Amino acid sequence: MAILYYNPLMSRFQIFSAEEILSLRKGGAILRECLKEVARHTVEGVTTADLNRIAEAFIRARGGTPAFLGYHDYPASLCVSINEESVHGIPGPRKIADGDIVSLDCGVLFDGLNTDACISVLVGNVDPAVRKLSEVTERALAAACAIVRAGIRVGDISACIQETVESQGFFCLHGLTGHGLGTHLHQFPDIPNLGEKGTGPVLPPNTLIAIEPITSIGTRNIRQEDDGWTISSADDTPAAHFEHTILVLPERGEIIV
Ligand code: MF3
Ligand code: CO
Repeated sequence: MAILYYNPLMSRFQIFSAEEILSLRKGGAILRECLKEVARHTVEGVTTADLNRIAEAFIRARGGTPAFLGYHDYPASLCVSINEESVHGIPGPRKIADGDIVSLDCGVLFDGLNTDACISVLVGNVDPAVRKLSEVTERALAAACAIVRAGIRVGDISACIQETVESQGFFCLHGLTGHGLGTHLHQFPDIPNLGEKGTGPVLPPNTLIAIEPITSIGTRNIRQEDDGWTISSADDTPAAHFEHTILVLPERGEIIV
């Protein structure tokens, strides 16, 4: 991503006040309900543009702003990535089909602060290997969230995700990472899905990170599609993606969404 202007939050942690934490919880609640509503509509025959409309209307009705819309000129409020597509799928006329794994990734801006979350939804009769990929990816996210507290290092999270995913014979896609967030949707630090324990920045208390394992059945390598946004697995095997925004507290992590 090109650096368009000097943004100090690209190189240091943003620390949140008690009042800002209340705002993060409100934004997170909107996003959690939004994803639930979009997931309920993720069935055979619905177009991905329909899902985007549902997400945008839901966020605005609750007083939030879609965080993705217009971000680096991204044209929608939701990313919908199907099967071999891993992230940043642009909604359009494509219809959800039986057997699809559909990643629904969305962000809310509330009181000037961003939250970001993703779930993968299995539609109808899904291949057992894809079901397992989805379960393992969700488990990797849960395992990583469970170790979050002030004082751990970013590499502790990366190693936990990599170990959970690779021990089951699956892959974390190279170059796709989680991130800090707050005033900006993406800010310091990157949270890689591949890495070593005991390395990287130490997490201070009252900071916010998005943890997002992005996996595939067959490869670590990615391919950028011609639309300039969609990123697929290089071998076209199915991908999965789950994401939480999590607040780093002195003794634990609090899942904001
Ligand atoms: N959750 C996505 C990510 O962290 C956010 C995508 S914003 C978009 O990469 F504008 F690129 F869609
Ligand atoms: Co994210």
